[in-house]
Amino acid sequence: MAKDKVEETGELEWALLPRGEISQVEGIFLEKNTCNIWDKIWNFQAKPDDLVIASYPKAGTTWTQEIVDLIQNNGDIEKSRWASIPLRQPFLEWTIWEISQNNFSGLNQANAMPSPRTLKTHLPVQLLPPSFWEKNCKIIYVARNAKDTMVSYYHFQRMNKTLPDPGSWDEYFKTFLAGKVAWGSWYDHVKGWWRKKDSHPILYLFYEEMITDPKREIRKVMEFLGKDLTEEVLDKIVYNTSFDVMKNNPMTNYTNVRMNHNISPFMRKGVIGDWKNQFTETQNKQFNEDYEKNMADTSLSFCMEL
Ligand code: A3P
Repeated sequence: MAKDKVEETGELEWALLPRGEISQVEGIFLEKNTCNIWDKIWNFQAKPDDLVIASYPKAGTTWTQEIVDLIQNNGDIEKSRWASIPLRQPFLEWTIWEISQNNFSGLNQANAMPSPRTLKTHLPVQLLPPSFWEKNCKIIYVARNAKDTMVSYYHFQRMNKTLPDPGSWDEYFKTFLAGKVAWGSWYDHVKGWWRKKDSHPILYLFYEEMITDPKREIRKVMEFLGKDLTEEVLDKIVYNTSFDVMKNNPMTNYTNVRMNHNISPFMRKGVIGDWKNQFTETQNKQFNEDYEKNMADTSLSFCMEL
């Protein structure tokens, strides 16, 4: 496939684009088109050598995807740059990609792809198609602290019209805490996948640990994938998956997917603790109370600032 052309969306064209809607599957909000083909997604046939990268939105999914792809390609940058990330690793439940003016659906892409396949999903653990469990597929889950996730998701919904308008930050704060965003409650997501790792091969990563020691976390992924790369190759992967390199790489920065990067770039800040620039004191207090209640029944803990 030819390299993707960077697509420009004019402001008027952007203004006229309709917003996506969300609906529900088993009480979880998902993009409406995903709900409409839910039976097909639920019946997806996994293969034993499929690898799944799962996460709640904005947890560092793309970062993890690029790390995995570079490990699989033994650090060969050219091999990893043949196409933008959603074309290299299909997004299982996503039906409406418009990349360089072509339309893609995760299911079609996945079904057409030769093995071994790497697939991305944001589905909560109970909605992952059962075939992945039956085939005992390896899964990498990446989680990020809720405050930074919420801020990142808010800006993402502003610039991505396939999801509903987030409204004002005050409104979004309430919507997010109520779990009324696409892919549901952050709490249920991170806790559900955390529990599942006791009975299934899941490598559970944390965005904050990837920030503080990327090489250590990349090595963990390498070992989980059963690969053995030299220190030199690992260093090369650390460099090529750094925020600045990925921000300038059209195959990872989503500039060829229809989104409005003038409103907020996909590769926005890539830091721990940006929530402090967005949360009011009152919101922080309210959040902390809610968080304590919801996290009382899990051993999971998150770093929210450095
Ligand atoms: P911010 O909006 O806080 O900057 P996802 O891929 O799950 O949608 O997550 C996107 C978030 O991960 C964005 O967060 C993005 O900037 C951040 N991100 C992507 N690549 C990164 C990298 N190499 N290093 C640090 N953060 C990265």
